[in-house]
Amino acid sequence: MDKFVIRGGNPLLGSIRVSGAKNSALPCMAAAILTEDEVILENIPQVRDIETERKLLTSMGAEVELGYGRAQHRTSIRCAVLSDPVAKYEIVKTMRASSLVLGPLVARTGLARVAMPGGCAIGGRPIDLHIKGLEAMGARITQEHGYLEARADHLRGAHIVWEKISVTGTEDLLMAAVMAEGETVMENCAREPEVTDLATLLTAMGAKIEGAGTPTIRVRGVEKLHGARHRINPDRIEAGTFLIAGAITGGDLNVANCEPAHLGALLSKLELCGVRCDVNGDTIRVRSEGGLRAADISTEEYPGFPTDMQAQFMALVTQAEGTSVVAENIFENRFMHVQELIRMGANIRVDGRTAIIQGKTQLSSAAVMCSDLRASASLVLAALVAEGESILDRVYHIDRGYERIEEKLRSVGAQIRRLGEVFGKRAAS
Ligand code: EPZ
Repeated sequence: MDKFVIRGGNPLLGSIRVSGAKNSALPCMAAAILTEDEVILENIPQVRDIETERKLLTSMGAEVELGYGRAQHRTSIRCAVLSDPVAKYEIVKTMRASSLVLGPLVARTGLARVAMPGGCAIGGRPIDLHIKGLEAMGARITQEHGYLEARADHLRGAHIVWEKISVTGTEDLLMAAVMAEGETVMENCAREPEVTDLATLLTAMGAKIEGAGTPTIRVRGVEKLHGARHRINPDRIEAGTFLIAGAITGGDLNVANCEPAHLGALLSKLELCGVRCDVNGDTIRVRSEGGLRAADISTEEYPGFPTDMQAQFMALVTQAEGTSVVAENIFENRFMHVQELIRMGANIRVDGRTAIIQGKTQLSSAAVMCSDLRASASLVLAALVAEGESILDRVYHIDRGYERIEEKLRSVGAQIRRLGEVFGKRAAS
C-alpha cells in the first residue's frame, strides 16, 4: 500500500499547474462509444481512474491509446467494433463512474450489460434515476446477478424531469439522447462544467444540443456521430485543493492553468476567511498571512459550494479563529475525514450531516488512513500544517483523482514523499 510521509510547517511558494479534469475526461472517454471514428481527447490527467476507464473500454473491444508525454497527456479512442458491450464487475467495483457507459452503449449497440456499481465510502449512490430516464426513452432494463441489462432497438426522445440533480445521470442520458429518434427535453439537469464539457465534445461529434450548463437541456437526435478532437477542461477541484493548500500553509502560491470562472463559490468563501485570491487569466494567486477567520459552508449542486471541496475546506477552517459550520447536503456519509482530523488535534463535532469546527487548533502529526478521494486530500492539507511528520496510508485513493500530487506539492516547498509502489514501479521519492 503506498504511503505519503509529510512534514508540516512549510508555506507553499511558487507556481503549481492544474491537470485536466478527471470528471470531464471520464464521460468524454465514454462518449467515444457513440461513433466508429477516432475520438482524440487532450489534457487528460494521469490518474488511476483514467487507466481504469481505458481498461473498461478496451475490455469491450475499443482501441485505446493513452500517452503522457511532456506535450501530450492525450488519449485516442476508436470504438470501431464493440465485441463485448459489458462493463464487468471486476472493473465497475473499482470505479462507480463506469456506469457512464450505460447510455452510450444502449444508444450505439442497442444492448448494454453493466455491473451494478454498489455503494461506496461516501454513500449508497444509486443509479435508479439513470435507469428511469433510459426506460422513458424506450429501453427495457432488467437486473440479474448484480448486472443491469438494457436493451432498445432504437431509443426515442422523451421529456425527462430529474427528481434529483445528478451529474453523471445528466451525462449518461445526454449520451443516450444524441442519436435517439426525435427530441429529448431534460429538466432539472446538473449544471456542472463537466456536463458542459461533455456537450461541447458531443456537439463537435455532430450532436444537436442546446442548454448544456442550464437546468433544461434539449437534444435533437441525429442519425450518426463522427469522430472529433477535444481538449478537456482544467480540474476545478484539483485547483480548489491547491488554493486551500496555499492558504492553510500561509503561503503565496500561483495556481496555474485553471478556470477561475468555475471556482466562484470557493473563491467567495476563501475571501470570507481572510484569504487573498487574485485572478489573472488562467492563474489564481492565493496568499494568506495567517489570521484565518471562521466561515460556514453548505454544499449544493453547481454553481453552489461543491461537495467535492467540503473535506478540504474543513481542514482549512480547523486553522481559522472561531466556529465554522459545514453542512453536507449531497451525500449521506461524506465525513470520513472527520475522525482522522480529530486524531490530528482538530476540534470537530458532528451532528447528522452537519459538522461544527472550533478553531484555531494546532494540529499535530499522526499516522492516518485515507478512505475516499477528497477525504484523503483533506488529510494531505492537514498534514501540511501539522507539527511533525504524518504518515498517510492507502494513498491509492488520492492517485485516483490527483496527478502526481506529491511532485506538484514538493515543487512549491512541501516536505512530502511517497513510500512504496507508484503505478507498478519503485517510487523515486
Ligand atoms: C459526480 O458523481 C462526481 N463524479 C462526484 O465526484 C461528485 O461528488 C458528484 O457528482 C456530485 O457533484 C463524477 O463526475 C465521475 P450525483 P455522481 O449523481 O454523478 C443521488 C469525486 O470526488 N442520486 O450528482 O455519482 C446520489 O446518491 C467524485 O471526483 C440518486 O439518488 O453524483 C447523491 O446523493 C465523488 N439516484 C446525489 O443524487 C441516481 O440515480 C447527487 O449524486 C443518481 C444520483
